[in-house]
Amino acid sequence: MAERPQVLIVDDEPNMRRVLAALLERESCEVLQAADGVEALRVMDENVVHVIVADLRMPNMDGLELLKRVNGRDPDLPFIVLTAHGTVDAAVEAMKLGAFDFITKPFEKDELLAVARKAMRSARLDALEPGGPGVAGDSRRHRIIGASSQMQAVFALIEKVAGSPTTVLLTGESGTGKELVARALHAESKLSRQPYIRVNCAAIPRELIESEFFGYEKGAFTGAVTSKPGRFELADGGTLFLDEIGEIPLEMQVKLLRAIQEHEFERVGGLRTLRVNVRLITATNKDLQRSVAEGTFREDLYYRLNVVHIRLPPLRERPEDLPLLCAHFVERFNERLGRRIEGFEPEAMASLRRYHWPGNVRELENLVERCVLFADGARIAPSDLPEEVRGVGGGAPDAADADPMALKSRVRAAAERVERDLIDKALKLCDHNVTRAAKLLRISRKSLQVKMRDLGLREIKET
Ligand SMILES: Nc1ncnc2c1ncn2[C@@H]1O[C@H](COP(=O)(O)OP(=O)(O)OP(=O)(O)O)[C@@H](O)[C@H]1O
Ligand SMILES: [Mg+2]
Repeated sequence: MAERPQVLIVDDEPNMRRVLAALLERESCEVLQAADGVEALRVMDENVVHVIVADLRMPNMDGLELLKRVNGRDPDLPFIVLTAHGTVDAAVEAMKLGAFDFITKPFEKDELLAVARKAMRSARLDALEPGGPGVAGDSRRHRIIGASSQMQAVFALIEKVAGSPTTVLLTGESGTGKELVARALHAESKLSRQPYIRVNCAAIPRELIESEFFGYEKGAFTGAVTSKPGRFELADGGTLFLDEIGEIPLEMQVKLLRAIQEHEFERVGGLRTLRVNVRLITATNKDLQRSVAEGTFREDLYYRLNVVHIRLPPLRERPEDLPLLCAHFVERFNERLGRRIEGFEPEAMASLRRYHWPGNVRELENLVERCVLFADGARIAPSDLPEEVRGVGGGAPDAADADPMALKSRVRAAAERVERDLIDKALKLCDHNVTRAAKLLRISRKSLQVKMRDLGLREIKET
Protein backbone atom coordinates (compact mmCIF):
# COMPACT_ATOMS: atom_id res chain seq x y z
CA MET A 1 0.00 0.00 0.00
CA ALA A 2 2.04 2.87 -1.26
CA GLU A 3 -0.70 5.48 -1.04
CA ARG A 4 -1.19 7.60 2.02
CA PRO A 5 -3.28 6.17 4.82
CA GLN A 6 -6.84 7.51 4.84
CA VAL A 7 -8.15 8.37 8.26
CA LEU A 8 -11.80 9.08 8.87
CA ILE A 9 -12.49 11.47 11.73
CA VAL A 10 -16.00 11.30 13.16
CA ASP A 11 -17.00 13.96 15.67
CA ASP A 12 -19.92 16.34 15.89
CA GLU A 13 -17.69 19.19 17.01
CA PRO A 14 -16.15 20.95 14.04
CA ASN A 15 -13.34 22.30 16.21
CA MET A 16 -12.35 18.88 17.40
CA ARG A 17 -12.37 17.63 13.82
CA ARG A 18 -10.18 20.51 12.76
CA VAL A 19 -7.60 19.86 15.49
CA LEU A 20 -7.48 16.16 14.75
CA ALA A 21 -7.27 16.72 11.02
CA ALA A 22 -4.38 19.14 11.37
CA LEU A 23 -2.42 16.73 13.55
CA LEU A 24 -3.02 13.74 11.33
CA GLU A 25 -2.30 15.60 8.13
CA ARG A 26 1.07 16.47 9.53
CA GLU A 27 1.61 12.72 9.79
CA SER A 28 0.96 12.62 6.04
CA CYS A 29 -2.46 11.06 6.34
CA GLU A 30 -5.36 11.83 4.05
CA VAL A 31 -8.13 12.99 6.33
CA LEU A 32 -11.82 12.45 5.73
CA GLN A 33 -14.44 13.91 8.04
CA ALA A 34 -17.93 13.13 9.22
CA ALA A 35 -20.14 14.74 11.86
CA ASP A 36 -21.88 11.59 13.02
CA GLY A 37 -22.19 7.87 12.44
CA VAL A 38 -24.64 8.11 9.58
CA GLU A 39 -22.42 10.45 7.66
CA ALA A 40 -19.40 8.29 8.49
CA LEU A 41 -20.97 5.25 6.89
CA ARG A 42 -21.75 7.29 3.80
CA VAL A 43 -18.14 8.46 3.59
CA MET A 44 -17.04 4.86 3.93
CA ASP A 45 -19.25 3.87 1.03
CA GLU A 46 -17.47 6.28 -1.23
CA ASN A 47 -13.89 6.08 0.02
CA VAL A 48 -11.27 3.64 1.11
CA VAL A 49 -10.79 4.15 4.84
CA HIS A 50 -7.82 2.66 6.69
CA VAL A 51 -8.37 3.99 10.20
CA ILE A 52 -11.35 5.53 12.00
CA VAL A 53 -11.13 7.97 14.88
CA ALA A 54 -14.61 8.48 16.32
CA ASP A 55 -16.17 10.33 19.21
CA LEU A 56 -18.61 8.34 21.32
CA ARG A 57 -21.31 10.87 21.97
CA MET A 58 -22.83 12.16 18.74
CA PRO A 59 -26.32 12.90 17.47
CA ASN A 60 -28.02 10.60 14.94
CA MET A 61 -25.73 7.64 15.31
CA ASP A 62 -23.31 7.52 18.21
CA GLY A 63 -19.84 6.02 18.26
CA LEU A 64 -20.86 2.67 19.72
CA GLU A 65 -23.49 2.10 17.09
CA LEU A 66 -21.02 3.12 14.40
CA LEU A 67 -18.46 0.70 15.79
CA LYS A 68 -20.99 -2.13 15.60
CA ARG A 69 -21.80 -1.26 12.00
CA VAL A 70 -18.15 -1.01 11.07
CA ASN A 71 -17.52 -4.36 12.73
CA GLY A 72 -20.17 -5.82 10.47
CA ARG A 73 -18.46 -4.47 7.38
CA ASP A 74 -14.79 -4.74 8.15
CA PRO A 75 -13.90 -6.17 11.56
CA ASP A 76 -10.17 -5.58 11.03
CA LEU A 77 -10.46 -1.85 10.43
CA PRO A 78 -8.74 -0.12 13.36
CA PHE A 79 -11.35 1.92 15.19
CA ILE A 80 -10.04 4.46 17.69
CA VAL A 81 -12.50 5.80 20.22
CA LEU A 82 -12.44 9.34 21.57
CA THR A 83 -13.69 9.27 25.10
CA ALA A 84 -14.62 12.09 27.43
CA HIS A 85 -15.41 12.19 31.08
CA GLY A 86 -19.08 11.41 30.71
CA THR A 87 -18.51 8.25 28.74
CA VAL A 88 -16.54 5.80 30.87
CA ASP A 89 -19.03 2.99 30.47
CA ALA A 90 -19.43 3.55 26.75
CA ALA A 91 -15.66 3.56 26.32
CA VAL A 92 -15.30 0.32 28.22
CA GLU A 93 -18.11 -1.10 26.11
CA ALA A 94 -16.31 0.02 22.95
CA MET A 95 -13.14 -1.76 23.97
CA LYS A 96 -15.16 -4.88 24.63
CA LEU A 97 -16.66 -4.58 21.17
CA GLY A 98 -13.15 -4.65 19.76
CA ALA A 99 -12.21 -1.01 19.37
CA PHE A 100 -8.54 -0.79 18.44
CA ASP A 101 -7.69 1.69 21.18
CA PHE A 102 -8.98 4.81 22.84
CA ILE A 103 -7.90 8.38 23.43
CA THR A 104 -9.23 10.25 26.40
CA LYS A 105 -10.15 13.90 26.03
CA PRO A 106 -8.48 16.21 26.68
CA PHE A 107 -5.64 14.47 24.95
CA GLU A 108 -2.01 15.31 24.47
CA LYS A 109 -0.77 15.59 20.92
CA ASP A 110 1.75 12.79 21.45
CA GLU A 111 -0.88 10.56 22.92
CA LEU A 112 -3.02 10.87 19.82
CA LEU A 113 -0.11 10.41 17.45
CA ALA A 114 1.16 7.32 19.23
CA VAL A 115 -2.21 5.62 19.00
CA ALA A 116 -2.80 6.76 15.42
CA ARG A 117 0.60 5.52 14.31
CA LYS A 118 -0.01 2.17 15.92
CA ALA A 119 -3.33 1.90 14.11
CA MET A 120 -1.86 2.87 10.76
CA ARG A 121 0.89 0.38 11.19
CA SER A 122 -1.59 -2.33 11.91
CA ALA A 123 -3.75 -1.32 8.95
CA ARG A 124 -0.88 -1.02 6.59
CA LEU A 125 1.00 -4.14 7.56
CA ASP A 126 -2.10 -6.21 7.11
CA ALA A 127 -2.61 -4.68 3.71
CA LEU A 128 1.01 -5.25 2.79
CA GLU A 129 1.33 -8.86 3.71
CA PRO A 130 -1.70 -11.10 3.76
CA GLY A 131 0.22 -13.60 5.86
CA GLY A 132 0.58 -11.07 8.63
CA PRO A 133 3.23 -8.50 9.38
CA GLY A 134 6.69 -9.27 8.13
CA VAL A 135 10.16 -7.90 7.74
CA ALA A 136 10.85 -4.96 5.52
CA GLY A 137 12.20 -5.27 2.05
CA ASP A 138 15.84 -6.10 1.75
CA SER A 139 16.45 -6.87 5.37
CA ARG A 140 14.44 -10.01 4.90
CA ARG A 141 17.44 -11.72 3.39
CA HIS A 142 19.46 -11.17 6.52
CA ARG A 143 16.71 -12.37 8.72
CA ILE A 144 16.62 -9.23 10.76
CA ILE A 145 13.17 -9.57 12.22
CA GLY A 146 10.97 -6.72 13.32
CA ALA A 147 7.50 -5.42 12.70
CA SER A 148 7.63 -2.62 15.25
CA SER A 149 7.80 0.93 14.00
CA GLN A 150 11.22 1.25 15.64
CA MET A 151 12.62 -1.67 13.66
CA GLN A 152 10.90 -0.53 10.47
CA ALA A 153 12.70 2.76 10.90
CA VAL A 154 15.97 0.86 11.30
CA PHE A 155 15.28 -1.07 8.09
CA ALA A 156 14.52 2.12 6.24
CA LEU A 157 17.83 3.58 7.39
CA ILE A 158 19.72 0.45 6.36
CA GLU A 159 18.23 0.61 2.92
CA LYS A 160 19.02 4.28 2.64
CA VAL A 161 22.67 4.09 3.62
CA ALA A 162 23.70 0.62 2.51
CA GLY A 163 24.23 1.70 -1.09
CA SER A 164 26.71 4.44 -0.27
CA PRO A 165 29.98 3.92 1.59
CA THR A 166 28.89 6.16 4.46
CA THR A 167 30.40 5.77 7.90
CA VAL A 168 27.85 4.30 10.28
CA LEU A 169 27.71 4.24 14.06
CA LEU A 170 25.57 1.50 15.57
CA THR A 171 24.46 1.88 19.16
CA GLY A 172 22.23 -0.21 21.34
CA GLU A 173 22.27 -2.43 24.38
CA SER A 174 23.96 -5.78 24.30
CA GLY A 175 22.14 -8.30 22.14
CA THR A 176 20.04 -5.83 20.16
CA GLY A 177 21.48 -6.87 16.79
CA LYS A 178 24.28 -4.41 16.10
CA GLU A 179 26.49 -7.01 14.53
CA LEU A 180 23.63 -8.36 12.49
CA VAL A 181 23.02 -4.88 11.11
CA ALA A 182 26.70 -4.34 10.39
CA ARG A 183 26.70 -7.49 8.26
CA ALA A 184 23.52 -6.45 6.53
CA LEU A 185 25.00 -3.05 5.71
CA HIS A 186 27.97 -4.74 4.14
CA ALA A 187 25.96 -7.36 2.28
CA GLU A 188 23.58 -4.73 0.88
CA SER A 189 26.38 -2.49 -0.29
CA LYS A 190 28.28 -2.38 -3.55
CA LEU A 191 31.23 -3.70 -1.56
CA SER A 192 29.54 -6.98 -0.75
CA ARG A 193 32.07 -8.98 -2.75
CA GLN A 194 34.92 -7.19 -1.01
CA PRO A 195 36.26 -8.15 2.40
CA TYR A 196 34.26 -7.68 5.57
CA ILE A 197 36.60 -7.48 8.52
CA ARG A 198 35.39 -7.35 12.09
CA VAL A 199 37.55 -6.28 14.99
CA ASN A 200 36.35 -6.64 18.55
CA CYS A 201 38.17 -3.76 20.19
CA ALA A 202 37.29 -4.98 23.67
CA ALA A 203 39.03 -8.30 23.13
CA ILE A 204 42.45 -6.93 22.19
CA PRO A 205 44.96 -6.08 24.93
CA ARG A 206 45.69 -2.36 24.74
CA GLU A 207 49.36 -2.84 23.89
CA LEU A 208 48.40 -4.90 20.85
CA ILE A 209 45.66 -2.71 19.44
CA GLU A 210 47.88 -0.63 17.22
CA SER A 211 49.51 -3.65 15.59
CA GLU A 212 46.11 -5.30 15.19
CA PHE A 213 44.71 -2.24 13.44
CA PHE A 214 47.68 -1.26 11.35
CA GLY A 215 49.93 -4.33 11.23
CA TYR A 216 53.64 -4.46 11.96
CA GLU A 217 56.97 -4.90 10.22
CA LYS A 218 59.40 -7.63 10.91
CA GLY A 219 61.49 -6.77 13.94
CA ALA A 220 59.13 -4.06 15.18
CA PHE A 221 59.06 -5.70 18.59
CA THR A 222 60.22 -8.92 20.20
CA GLY A 223 58.37 -11.73 18.55
CA ALA A 224 57.72 -9.89 15.31
CA VAL A 225 59.60 -12.41 13.25
CA THR A 226 57.69 -11.60 10.08
CA SER A 227 55.70 -8.65 8.83
CA LYS A 228 51.96 -8.76 9.20
CA PRO A 229 49.19 -6.63 7.70
CA GLY A 230 46.67 -5.08 10.06
CA ARG A 231 42.92 -5.07 9.84
CA PHE A 232 42.78 -1.80 7.95
CA GLU A 233 44.89 -3.29 5.20
CA LEU A 234 42.92 -6.50 5.15
CA ALA A 235 39.69 -4.56 4.80
CA ASP A 236 40.97 -2.43 1.91
CA GLY A 237 38.20 -1.96 -0.63
CA GLY A 238 35.60 -3.42 1.71
CA THR A 239 34.07 -2.89 5.12
CA LEU A 240 35.88 -2.58 8.43
CA PHE A 241 33.62 -3.17 11.40
CA LEU A 242 35.08 -1.94 14.67
CA ASP A 243 32.95 -3.50 17.35
CA GLU A 244 32.91 -2.16 20.93
CA ILE A 245 34.57 1.02 19.75
CA GLY A 246 33.86 2.60 23.13
CA GLU A 247 36.61 0.48 24.63
CA ILE A 248 39.63 1.72 22.73
CA PRO A 249 42.21 3.63 24.79
CA LEU A 250 42.63 7.35 24.29
CA GLU A 251 46.13 7.19 22.81
CA MET A 252 44.87 4.82 20.16
CA GLN A 253 41.94 7.10 19.35
CA VAL A 254 44.30 9.73 17.95
CA LYS A 255 45.85 7.25 15.56
CA LEU A 256 42.50 5.90 14.56
CA LEU A 257 41.24 9.39 13.81
CA ARG A 258 44.16 10.04 11.51
CA ALA A 259 43.68 6.74 9.70
CA ILE A 260 40.05 7.56 9.13
CA GLN A 261 40.54 11.15 8.15
CA GLU A 262 43.63 10.83 5.99
CA HIS A 263 43.02 7.24 4.90
CA GLU A 264 46.62 6.57 5.77
CA PHE A 265 48.78 5.03 8.47
CA GLU A 266 52.03 3.20 9.05
CA ARG A 267 52.54 -0.32 10.23
CA VAL A 268 54.13 -0.56 13.67
CA GLY A 269 57.86 -0.30 13.14
CA GLY A 270 57.27 0.64 9.52
CA LEU A 271 58.33 3.73 7.62
CA ARG A 272 56.13 3.42 4.59
CA THR A 273 52.80 5.25 4.69
CA LEU A 274 50.02 2.98 3.56
CA ARG A 275 46.79 4.16 2.00
CA VAL A 276 43.59 2.22 2.17
CA ASN A 277 39.98 2.75 1.27
CA VAL A 278 37.55 1.22 3.73
CA ARG A 279 33.95 1.70 4.61
CA LEU A 280 33.88 2.09 8.35
CA ILE A 281 31.14 0.76 10.62
CA THR A 282 31.50 1.03 14.38
CA ALA A 283 29.36 -0.24 17.20
CA THR A 284 29.09 0.26 20.93
CA ASN A 285 26.71 -0.40 23.77
CA LYS A 286 28.19 2.57 25.60
CA ASP A 287 26.79 6.06 25.66
CA LEU A 288 29.60 7.66 23.68
CA GLN A 289 28.34 11.16 24.31
CA ARG A 290 28.77 10.52 27.98
CA SER A 291 32.24 9.12 27.41
CA VAL A 292 33.02 12.33 25.53
CA ALA A 293 31.73 14.38 28.45
CA GLU A 294 33.78 12.29 30.84
CA GLY A 295 36.89 12.73 28.75
CA THR A 296 37.42 9.07 27.90
CA PHE A 297 36.42 9.40 24.27
CA ARG A 298 37.69 12.06 21.89
CA GLU A 299 35.02 14.40 20.68
CA ASP A 300 36.53 14.81 17.21
CA LEU A 301 36.62 11.04 16.76
CA TYR A 302 33.04 10.76 17.98
CA TYR A 303 31.85 13.19 15.32
CA ARG A 304 33.90 11.46 12.68
CA LEU A 305 32.27 8.12 13.50
CA ASN A 306 28.78 9.48 13.99
CA VAL A 307 28.01 10.34 10.37
CA VAL A 308 24.95 8.14 10.26
CA HIS A 309 23.69 6.88 13.57
CA ILE A 310 21.53 3.78 13.78
CA ARG A 311 20.17 3.06 17.23
CA LEU A 312 18.96 -0.46 17.86
CA PRO A 313 16.06 -0.23 20.32
CA PRO A 314 16.02 -2.55 23.33
CA LEU A 315 13.59 -5.44 23.05
CA ARG A 316 11.54 -4.22 25.99
CA GLU A 317 10.63 -1.10 24.01
CA ARG A 318 9.12 -3.16 21.21
CA PRO A 319 7.21 -6.11 22.66
CA GLU A 320 5.20 -6.26 19.44
CA ASP A 321 8.26 -7.83 17.82
CA LEU A 322 8.17 -10.80 20.19
CA PRO A 323 5.72 -13.04 18.29
CA LEU A 324 7.69 -12.75 15.05
CA LEU A 325 11.04 -13.22 16.72
CA CYS A 326 9.76 -16.23 18.63
CA ALA A 327 8.34 -17.82 15.50
CA HIS A 328 11.64 -17.22 13.75
CA PHE A 329 13.72 -18.80 16.50
CA VAL A 330 11.32 -21.69 17.08
CA GLU A 331 11.62 -22.55 13.41
CA ARG A 332 15.38 -22.30 13.51
CA PHE A 333 15.80 -24.48 16.60
CA ASN A 334 13.21 -27.01 15.49
CA GLU A 335 15.35 -27.51 12.46
CA ARG A 336 18.61 -27.64 14.34
CA LEU A 337 17.41 -29.78 17.21
CA GLY A 338 15.06 -32.01 15.26
CA ARG A 339 12.03 -30.91 17.26
CA ARG A 340 8.51 -29.96 16.24
CA ILE A 341 7.45 -27.30 18.69
CA GLU A 342 4.50 -25.31 17.36
CA GLY A 343 5.09 -22.11 19.25
CA PHE A 344 4.24 -20.44 22.53
CA GLU A 345 1.04 -20.70 24.49
CA PRO A 346 -0.65 -17.30 24.81
CA GLU A 347 0.01 -17.17 28.54
CA ALA A 348 3.69 -17.87 27.94
CA MET A 349 3.75 -15.15 25.27
CA ALA A 350 2.13 -12.78 27.75
CA SER A 351 4.98 -13.48 30.18
CA LEU A 352 7.53 -12.74 27.48
CA ARG A 353 5.84 -9.40 26.87
CA ARG A 354 6.05 -8.46 30.51
CA TYR A 355 9.68 -9.41 30.92
CA HIS A 356 12.31 -6.65 30.65
CA TRP A 357 14.91 -8.52 28.53
CA PRO A 358 18.21 -7.15 29.82
CA GLY A 359 20.03 -9.34 27.27
CA ASN A 360 17.62 -8.38 24.48
CA VAL A 361 17.31 -10.58 21.38
CA ARG A 362 20.31 -12.69 22.29
CA GLU A 363 18.65 -13.58 25.58
CA LEU A 364 15.41 -14.39 23.76
CA GLU A 365 17.27 -16.54 21.27
CA ASN A 366 18.89 -18.55 24.07
CA LEU A 367 15.60 -18.87 25.88
CA VAL A 368 13.81 -20.19 22.80
CA GLU A 369 16.58 -22.68 22.23
CA ARG A 370 16.24 -24.06 25.76
CA CYS A 371 12.46 -24.12 25.51
CA VAL A 372 12.43 -25.87 22.15
CA LEU A 373 14.80 -28.45 23.55
CA PHE A 374 12.99 -29.09 26.82
CA ALA A 375 9.29 -28.39 26.25
CA ASP A 376 7.11 -31.38 26.97
CA GLY A 377 4.02 -30.39 25.04
CA ALA A 378 3.58 -29.25 21.47
CA ARG A 379 3.57 -25.67 22.61
CA ILE A 380 5.82 -23.89 25.04
CA ALA A 381 3.91 -23.34 28.27
CA PRO A 382 4.53 -20.84 31.07
CA SER A 383 5.95 -23.67 33.15
CA ASP A 384 8.67 -24.16 30.52
CA LEU A 385 9.93 -20.63 31.07
CA PRO A 386 12.67 -19.73 33.51
CA GLU A 387 11.38 -18.30 36.73
CA GLU A 388 12.59 -14.76 36.16
CA VAL A 389 10.76 -14.62 32.83
CA ARG A 390 7.56 -16.20 34.09
CA GLY A 391 7.50 -13.57 36.80
CA VAL A 392 4.35 -12.88 38.73
CA GLY A 393 1.07 -11.36 37.51
CA GLY A 394 0.89 -7.62 36.88
CA GLY A 395 1.06 -5.75 33.58
CA ALA A 396 -1.20 -6.49 30.68
CA PRO A 397 -0.13 -7.87 27.33
CA ASP A 398 0.31 -5.16 24.77
CA ALA A 399 -1.50 -6.59 21.81
CA ALA A 400 -3.81 -9.47 21.20
CA ASP A 401 -2.62 -12.79 20.00
CA ALA A 402 -4.86 -14.64 17.60
CA ASP A 403 -5.94 -16.81 20.48
CA PRO A 404 -9.37 -16.14 22.06
CA MET A 405 -8.01 -16.37 25.60
CA ALA A 406 -5.40 -13.75 24.88
CA LEU A 407 -8.01 -11.64 23.16
CA LYS A 408 -10.19 -11.81 26.23
CA SER A 409 -7.41 -10.76 28.48
CA ARG A 410 -6.50 -7.96 26.10
CA VAL A 411 -10.06 -6.66 26.20
CA ARG A 412 -10.14 -6.88 29.96
CA ALA A 413 -6.85 -5.05 30.17
CA ALA A 414 -7.96 -2.40 27.71
CA ALA A 415 -11.23 -1.81 29.50
CA GLU A 416 -9.36 -1.42 32.73
CA ARG A 417 -6.91 0.95 31.11
CA VAL A 418 -9.62 3.21 29.73
CA GLU A 419 -11.29 3.39 33.14
CA ARG A 420 -8.08 4.07 34.93
CA ASP A 421 -7.12 6.73 32.44
CA LEU A 422 -10.41 8.59 32.63
CA ILE A 423 -10.60 8.37 36.39
CA ASP A 424 -7.04 9.51 36.71
CA LYS A 425 -7.60 12.54 34.54
CA ALA A 426 -10.86 13.40 36.28
CA LEU A 427 -9.23 13.21 39.70
CA LYS A 428 -6.40 15.44 38.61
CA LEU A 429 -8.81 17.96 37.14
CA CYS A 430 -10.71 18.02 40.42
CA ASP A 431 -7.68 18.23 42.66
CA HIS A 432 -8.41 14.71 43.86
CA ASN A 433 -11.79 15.69 45.20
CA VAL A 434 -13.66 12.41 44.79
CA THR A 435 -17.11 13.92 44.96
CA ARG A 436 -16.40 16.40 42.19
CA ALA A 437 -14.59 13.81 40.10
CA ALA A 438 -17.55 11.47 40.41
CA LYS A 439 -19.85 14.25 39.21
CA LEU A 440 -17.61 14.92 36.25
CA LEU A 441 -17.54 11.23 35.42
CA ARG A 442 -21.30 11.04 35.89
CA ILE A 443 -21.12 8.17 38.28
CA SER A 444 -21.92 8.06 41.98
CA ARG A 445 -19.28 8.84 44.53
CA LYS A 446 -19.70 5.34 45.90
CA SER A 447 -19.11 3.62 42.58
CA LEU A 448 -16.12 5.82 41.87
CA GLN A 449 -14.63 4.72 45.17
CA VAL A 450 -15.31 1.09 44.34
CA LYS A 451 -13.70 1.47 40.93
CA MET A 452 -10.72 3.24 42.44
CA ARG A 453 -10.28 0.44 44.91
CA ASP A 454 -10.55 -2.20 42.17
CA LEU A 455 -8.02 -0.37 40.05
CA GLY A 456 -5.69 0.09 42.99
CA LEU A 457 -5.95 3.89 42.85
CA ARG A 458 -5.47 5.55 46.19
CA GLU A 459 -7.80 8.17 47.46
CA ILE A 460 -5.83 11.25 48.32
CA LYS A 461 -7.43 12.98 51.27
CA GLU A 462 -7.54 16.72 51.17
CA THR A 463 -5.92 18.51 54.04
N1 LIG B 1 16.10 -8.26 14.85
C1 LIG B 1 16.68 -9.47 14.93
N2 LIG B 1 16.20 -10.50 14.21
C2 LIG B 1 16.76 -11.72 14.31
N3 LIG B 1 17.80 -12.01 15.09
C3 LIG B 1 18.32 -11.03 15.84
C4 LIG B 1 17.79 -9.71 15.80
N4 LIG B 1 18.50 -8.94 16.64
C5 LIG B 1 19.43 -9.74 17.18
N5 LIG B 1 19.35 -11.00 16.70
C6 LIG B 1 20.19 -12.14 17.10
O1 LIG B 1 20.53 -11.95 18.45
C7 LIG B 1 21.89 -12.26 18.68
C8 LIG B 1 22.63 -11.02 19.16
O2 LIG B 1 22.74 -10.10 18.10
P1 LIG B 1 24.08 -9.28 17.85
O3 LIG B 1 25.28 -10.12 18.14
O4 LIG B 1 23.98 -8.62 16.53
O5 LIG B 1 23.89 -8.20 19.03
P2 LIG B 1 24.88 -7.02 19.48
O6 LIG B 1 24.06 -5.82 19.60
O7 LIG B 1 26.05 -6.97 18.62
O8 LIG B 1 25.28 -7.49 20.95
P3 LIG B 1 26.65 -7.14 21.77
O9 LIG B 1 26.67 -5.71 21.96
O10 LIG B 1 26.51 -7.92 23.02
O11 LIG B 1 27.78 -7.63 20.90
C9 LIG B 1 22.43 -12.77 17.36
O12 LIG B 1 22.36 -14.17 17.35
C10 LIG B 1 21.50 -12.19 16.35
O13 LIG B 1 21.41 -13.01 15.21
MG1 LIG C 1 28.02 -7.38 19.05
